[in-house]
Amino acid sequence: MKEIYIKAPAKINLVLHIKRLRNDGYHELEMIMQSISLSDRIKLKRNSGGIIIKNSDYDLPNDKNNLAYKAAELFFEKTNIDQGVEIYIQKNIPIASGMAGGSSDAAAVMRGLYDLYNLETNFDIIREYLAEIGSDVPYCLEGGTVFASGRGEKIEFLPFIGEKHLVIVTPKICVSTPEVFNIYDKMKHSDDYNDNYNIEAIIDNIKSDKKIDWNLNFKNDLAEPARQICSEIKKVEDIMKNTDPLLYLMSGSGPTVFAIYESRKKAEKAAVNWPRKNDFVITAKTIDSY
Ligand code: C5P
Repeated sequence: MKEIYIKAPAKINLVLHIKRLRNDGYHELEMIMQSISLSDRIKLKRNSGGIIIKNSDYDLPNDKNNLAYKAAELFFEKTNIDQGVEIYIQKNIPIASGMAGGSSDAAAVMRGLYDLYNLETNFDIIREYLAEIGSDVPYCLEGGTVFASGRGEKIEFLPFIGEKHLVIVTPKICVSTPEVFNIYDKMKHSDDYNDNYNIEAIIDNIKSDKKIDWNLNFKNDLAEPARQICSEIKKVEDIMKNTDPLLYLMSGSGPTVFAIYESRKKAEKAAVNWPRKNDFVITAKTIDSY
């Protein structure tokens, strides 16, 4: 095989609960992650002359600062293959939007390189490699509905919540993930970490045969600190609230806000009538693991 094409789906957080600040500077998290149909498209082509990246987005670096580059570098290092690859990324997921676009590109490149070189895959080992690139990269290897803990790298697959219709809105501003976590820490005193939160009720609901109860405590602890740096988030939430969603929530460290609707028609109506013209707005569906 000389070249392959792969998809790198985005994710949303149905829950992002911060348990505590760890000694290594990371936060101990409990999250429920969900893959969605919005995806980057990636082409990989064998190349003897090192790692070359091209992408469709002017704002995305094509060097070692691109997580896809790191994934390719790690692949050749771990497998001792003395070859290279040309990577082309068609970016559809907004950059630094809280939907793990860069992480998903990295996981897809790693997985794609195993295919390109016809190597046997052990996903547990590959996930360990991917954890070196970023906390949510291991999740992106297979996606789906997942309970993630630790710094985000420990994953437990849950049953797929089923196809739900969404609207994704990303205001055109960037928020830095470390900064949002820092503000969270400043807002909280260390003895004030809210640890009576119980994610089990949501996990039990997802594991049961019952319909998802959207009135359970789906939440994102980073929403409040993100709103402090970016007032646009609140404006987006205020509009979404009035579109009759089952749930609306910020994803990751923001600034994307998503809403889940009971029908495709309602999602499309909300997207078509979205009043803020500078936002990135798209309808999408939840997808199972890939
Ligand atoms: O792991 P990753 O490089 O994606 O994390 C980016 C930044 O997000 C970290 O440097 C840290 O500031 C913050 N982070 C955190 N706790 C986590 C995951 C990320 O504080 N569990």
